[in-house]
Amino acid sequence: MEKDSKAIIDPYVLKGKWQENFGNANPIHLELGCGKGQFITTLAEKNPDINYIAIDLKDEVLVFVLRKLNEMGLSNVRIIPMFIERVDEIFEKDEVSKIYINFCNPWPKVSHNKRRLTHPRFLTKYKTFIKPGTEVWFKTDDDDLFEASLGYFEEENFEELYRNWDLSESDFKENVRTEYEEKFSAFGVKIKFGIFKHREEM
Ligand SMILES: C[S@@+](CC[C@H](N)C(=O)[O-])C[C@H]1O[C@@H](n2cnc3c(N)ncnc32)[C@H](O)[C@@H]1O
Repeated sequence: MEKDSKAIIDPYVLKGKWQENFGNANPIHLELGCGKGQFITTLAEKNPDINYIAIDLKDEVLVFVLRKLNEMGLSNVRIIPMFIERVDEIFEKDEVSKIYINFCNPWPKVSHNKRRLTHPRFLTKYKTFIKPGTEVWFKTDDDDLFEASLGYFEEENFEELYRNWDLSESDFKENVRTEYEEKFSAFGVKIKFGIFKHREEM
């Protein structure tokens, strides 16, 4: 993975320089916890004018993403093996204009709630580098996580633009399915989905 320039092993040096790395001025969209990359590679193929950055802590899943990118001949994606806890250290203010969070760990124990990727502890980090008006697109199989996240987004001054408790039955046509989504849907689990827009703060 280290030999492929689409895998960014030291992302900290690229803070404020991501567009330079992509070699264009296209917007940057971020996926947190990308897994094996079905979602990000599908989006990247559909939207060649967007630069995508996908983060996951596990090298073993990122290897799959890289393989897909190379098979599909996509150059508008970078993958980063890192803990999302440090995501605010790799981006400059206003550097990212969309975030996707798909099927993150629900961390059901109250003492672990703050590890949720939608928890205010994380949303405050994201706010240091997203453009005003940035949307966070969030999908989960977990009712409790979804319910709590509606409150987290509100608390952190994100406006709810869309909410659906059963995505497969919805009129939302833009959905791109992830690996976990396919597994849960096959078991009849309803997929919860929301879009939350960052309000400009004075
Ligand atoms: C349940 S999987 C979902 C994968 C994919 N988004 C999907 O929907 O198929 C969660 C992924 O997030 C990654 N992950 C969980 N916590 C993380 C963290 N704190 N930092 C980086 N990656 C993390 C895991 O390694 C795993 O690949």
